[in-house]
Amino acid sequence: MIRILNAELEKLLAMRDPIILWEAMRYSVFAGGKRLRPQLLAGACLGLGGSIEEALPFACAVEMIHTYSLIHDDLPAMDDDDLRRGMPTSHKMFGQGMAILAGDGLLNLAYETMLAACGSMGDKMGRGVKAASILAKAAGSSGMVAGQSVDILSENKKIDERTLLYMHANKTSALISASLEAGGILAGCGASCAKSLKEAGEKLGLAFQIRDDLLDITETTENLGKPANSDLKSNKSTYVSLFGIERAKADYERLSLESEEALGGLDWKDGFLLGLARKMHKGVPQKAE
Ligand code: IPE
Ligand code: IPE
Ligand code: MG
Ligand code: MG
Ligand code: MG
Repeated sequence: MIRILNAELEKLLAMRDPIILWEAMRYSVFAGGKRLRPQLLAGACLGLGGSIEEALPFACAVEMIHTYSLIHDDLPAMDDDDLRRGMPTSHKMFGQGMAILAGDGLLNLAYETMLAACGSMGDKMGRGVKAASILAKAAGSSGMVAGQSVDILSENKKIDERTLLYMHANKTSALISASLEAGGILAGCGASCAKSLKEAGEKLGLAFQIRDDLLDITETTENLGKPANSDLKSNKSTYVSLFGIERAKADYERLSLESEEALGGLDWKDGFLLGLARKMHKGVPQKAE
């Protein structure tokens, strides 16, 4: 699956002018992410009876959106991190201006890619439009961008539980959940299946961000491929800073299990998606000593 995704991303991101801009876009996309969101989208589509051809443009689009969000997340004006996916961050390599533009380029290319796909879907165009709308809403100012706004507003502050859950639901769960739902929609799944995918994705995404917050303090920079203790350094509000390690671990495990159960209730044609969800939960982070 990852090989097929990367081959398609290679095509969509074939070098062109201006060289530095496209180099910067390619640099971050091919720096070696886990490709979780596109795998969730394509896995949901294939597992519910759709085809890889139908899923691919949308899967690549979601990875471009995610990569843009990481480039901007790392900027000095946001988390100010120097390492991403085991490599110097975009602004370290190309300067802040070009990093901002590489993010802008990837975000727009994602929409170009989804719209072009919709245009060639024939009588399935409605599914494409719906999938693209779900991803657009989840990525934008009613989703990830809203969550990221609350994230930067919550630095050096003690926030309440509701605000933290809002922040995590939007900055992380929204795109994860939308990937699953869009995959199902592309496969032609019905309303109740789409709702189950969305709800399972919300739990999966929340578990994923709790784990990310835990890993920030329990893992090494080398293992993470991004700076350990970045949240501590920026005095971020995280699941761990608000509730402590023990509750974070317990909630993470509960939500992982609940999302697996919710996904397990659907009628999958193969085991890929459930295997992927399980992999996302694997290895409960250990307490830092
Ligand atoms: C990192 O996402 C940002 C979060 C939402 C925690 P990933 O852990 O999926 O990052 P990559 O794509 O593998 O680099
Ligand atoms: C970022 O959350 C979520 C995004 C939408 C990019 P973090 O700031 O915790 O992600 P990392 O730890 O830098 O990957
Ligand atoms: Mg951040
Ligand atoms: Mg960050
Ligand atoms: Mg983090």
